[in-house]
This record gives sequence, C-alpha cells and structure tokens, in this order.
Amino acid sequence: MVFNKKFKDQVALITGAGSGLGSALAFALGKQGAKLILGDVNQIALQKVVADLTALDIQVAFNVCDVSQNTDQVALVQLALDTWGRLDIAVNNAGICPPMHSFHEISEADFDFAMNVNTKGVFLGMKHQLSAMVKSELSGVILNVSSVAGLGAAPKLASYSASKYAVIGLTKTAAVEYAKKNIRINAICPFYTQTPLVTESQLSDKIEFLNNSSPMKRLATTDEIIDVMLMLCSPQNTYMTGQAIAVDGGVTAL
Ligand SMILES: NC(=O)c1ccc[n+]([C@@H]2O[C@H](COP(=O)([O-])OP(=O)(O)OC[C@H]3O[C@@H](n4cnc5c(N)ncnc54)[C@H](O)[C@@H]3O)[C@@H](O)[C@H]2O)c1
Repeated sequence: MVFNKKFKDQVALITGAGSGLGSALAFALGKQGAKLILGDVNQIALQKVVADLTALDIQVAFNVCDVSQNTDQVALVQLALDTWGRLDIAVNNAGICPPMHSFHEISEADFDFAMNVNTKGVFLGMKHQLSAMVKSELSGVILNVSSVAGLGAAPKLASYSASKYAVIGLTKTAAVEYAKKNIRINAICPFYTQTPLVTESQLSDKIEFLNNSSPMKRLATTDEIIDVMLMLCSPQNTYMTGQAIAVDGGVTAL
C-alpha cells in the first residue's frame, strides 16, 4: 500500500508506545514517513509494536523507559539524537489511570503514582526534548496527552484529574516561553476512548454509563483521536501553540 508521506524525514518520539493511542500513533506517523523513537515501561508490549512496525519497513529505534525517571527520559532523547541526528516531534503520551475512589478515600500512594507518571513524566520529557530542540535551532513540535479530566471534574478520579490539569499548565507555559524558537507545544484532551486503558480496566464495566455521558452517546475510537494528534503534530500546522484541544464528542460543551 502507498501511504501519503506527510511526515517524511521527521523524527518523532512517542512515550507509552506499547499500547493504545501511543502504538496507534506510531503506526500512523511511521506510515506517513516519520522515523520513530519509541519508549514504554512495558518491554514485551513495546517489542511487539516495534516488530510489527519493522515488518512494514518503518524505521524505528526504542528504549524501555519509565517516564517518571529522569535518566530514562534523558536516554530516550539521546537515542533520537544518536540514531537519527535530530528530534522534530515529541509526544508525551504515557499515562496511567489510578484506582477509582471517592476523594476522601484516595491513598497518598495512588495520588503520588498519578502525579509521578502523568505529570512529572510530562515535565521530564518536555525538559529534555526542549533542550534538544533548542540546541538544534530547528523548529519543533511537542504534543502532550492530557484528557477532558484536565478540563473539568472527573468524579472518583481526583488525582488523575489533577495530574491532567497540570499537564495543561506545563503545556501553556512552555508554549509561551518557546514560541519565539518556533517550537509549538499543544495538549490534546480526549474523552474516554476505546483503548486498553478503558476496555481492559476498572472502567470496562462502566462503558454504557460513559457512552451515555457523551452528547454523541459513545466513546471515541482510537482513529478519531489519532487523526487530531496527526493534525497537531503536522509540519503544516504552523501557527497553533499553547492550546488544550478537547476531542470529546461534545462533553465539554455541556
Ligand atoms: N483511553 C482513554 O480513554 C483516554 C482518555 C483521555 C486521555 N487518555 C490518555 O491517553 C494516554 C494514552 O492512554 P491509552 O488510552 O493509550 O492507554 P494504554 O493503557 O492503552 O497505554 C498507555 C501506555 O503507557 C505505558 N506506560 C504506563 N506507565 C508508563 C511509564 N511510567 N513510563 C512509560 N510508559 C508507561 C503503558 O505501558 C501503556 O503501553 C494516557 O496519557 C491517558 O491518560 C486516555
């Protein structure tokens, strides 16, 4: 099959690439010509994705990486520079959803876990990605994966919500700081999407309720989120920065 090579010669780093949105984005960017740097804490899942990408002749290098660890984030960016000589696009996608509890029953450990992976993971990634992009004096794109839970209440998921609100603060502040360097930084805020984070988790028995809480009466498909991620990463999307884009079937319009 011949693919449209909109991302030809672009080097794209994706965290959380072993599953769900991260792996789907890797295939989408790879099919459109990007060279990939992939990271995930789940080695087996990551290796399977890499093998499938390689079978399609997509150029890919990877590291097992826990985004909450500074040394892992340094190594992932260095892998991009060592392998492809540059970093054009970074997608801070890795994330976890902590157990659902009423606010007063959330443990300190669960709160710390959500903040460490979902917020500190994005902070550390951006710090080293920005450093590489500034040094290269090329333009750059960073896309952070927040959530509608970063734009409004997420009952029983207060720590997840807090961690995703913080991602938007990191996104907007860095976007203003680095706009003059032509580094565009945005966040995407999906509503519940058909990935393992929902379909193979504590949320799987709540899908009918979640469907009904959206004006479109359904979850997002992975492809519907990936299409917007591609638009946000596109070299043709030159004037959008500092935005938190909801892709939510109308949920935040309610
Ligand atoms: N699926 C949804 O409904 C939904 C909605 C809004 C936002 N999001 C966000 O989208 C992102 C992707 O989620 P998904 O739905 O594809 O989930 P997923 O569970 O399918 O994939 C997440 C991936 O991140 C990896 N990961 C987890 N902790 C990590 C860590 N510390 N370091 C590196 N990798 C780690 C996992 O191993 C997994 O491969 C997350 O940030 C999530 O919060 C998802």
